[in-house]
Amino acid sequence: MKVHILTLFPAMFEGPFSESMVKRAQEKGLLQISLVNIRDYAHDKHQLTDDYAYGGGAGMVMKPEPVFEAIESITGPSLKNAGIPIVLTTPQGQRLDQPLVRTLAANAEVIIICGHYEGMDDRIREGLATHEISIGDYVLTGGELPAMVLTDAMARLQQGVLGSEQSLLQDSFNGGLLQYPQFTRPPEYKGMKVPDILVSGNHGQIDKWKRQQSLLRTARNRPNMLSKATLTKEDKVFLKAQGINPD
Ligand SMILES: C[S@@+](CC[C@H](N)C(=O)[O-])C[C@H]1O[C@@H](n2cnc3c(N)ncnc32)[C@H](O)[C@@H]1O
Repeated sequence: MKVHILTLFPAMFEGPFSESMVKRAQEKGLLQISLVNIRDYAHDKHQLTDDYAYGGGAGMVMKPEPVFEAIESITGPSLKNAGIPIVLTTPQGQRLDQPLVRTLAANAEVIIICGHYEGMDDRIREGLATHEISIGDYVLTGGELPAMVLTDAMARLQQGVLGSEQSLLQDSFNGGLLQYPQFTRPPEYKGMKVPDILVSGNHGQIDKWKRQQSLLRTARNRPNMLSKATLTKEDKVFLKAQGINPD
C-alpha cells in the first residue's frame, strides 16, 4: 500500500520509518511512504502556512490553501471524491482502534494530514477529510506522531510484512480479546516461574490455558471489551466460575 503523509515537519519521520518492520516493509516493496511537505504548497514568499484565528483566540491556525493544493497534487481535482481515504488527525476525531486500522489498511492508498499549532482551518475537515481520527483523549503538539502510529499499525497488516501471519491472529483485539500472557526462557527469573502448563507439551491444554488467560486479562484490564466479544458457552462457564459476569 502507499501512504501519503502531509506534514510541515517531514524530518520527524526519518527515525521511526527507517527502523524495524516499517523499514523492512518498504524494502520489500509492501509499503511505500510519500512525505509531502505542506510548506512546498505555500503561496507567499515567506512560505507561510499558518495565520491568526478569525474571532481571536490563542495560537495560529493552519491555512487551507496549501493543504488543499498538496492533496490535489495526489488526487487531482477530485479531492475527497477520488476514492482515496483522507485521514485528518485530530483529538476531536473517532478513536483509532484495530477494526478502523483494518478498514484503512485494506486500501491501496491512504492520505494522512498532520495538523500543527492550534489546529487547522475547519474547511480542511469539511472539504477534504473522509475520516477524522484521534489516537486518544489527550492533545499532542502535532499530527506527526498519530500519523506514525496509524502507518505502523497499517503496515503490520500488509501481507508479508510480519514473519508469520499467525502473529496477527494472536494479537490483542483480534477476536475482541486481549492477548494471553507470554513467556520465554529462562523458566525461572527472580523467583517468578513460567506456568507449568506452558512447558507441559500438552498442546490441547496449552490452547485452553491461553484462551482462559485472554478472557481473564480482558475482564481485568478492559471489561467493556468482554461484553462485546464473541464468547463460547465454555468461555462463559469459565468466567462465571471465576466470579466474572460475561454479559
Ligand atoms: C495542538 S493540536 C490542536 C488541538 C485543537 N486546538 C483542539 O483542541 O482540538 C495540533 C494538531 O495535533 C494533532 N493532534 C493532537 N492531538 C491529537 C490526538 N489525540 N489525535 C490525533 N491528532 C492529534 C492534530 O493534527 C492537531 O491539529
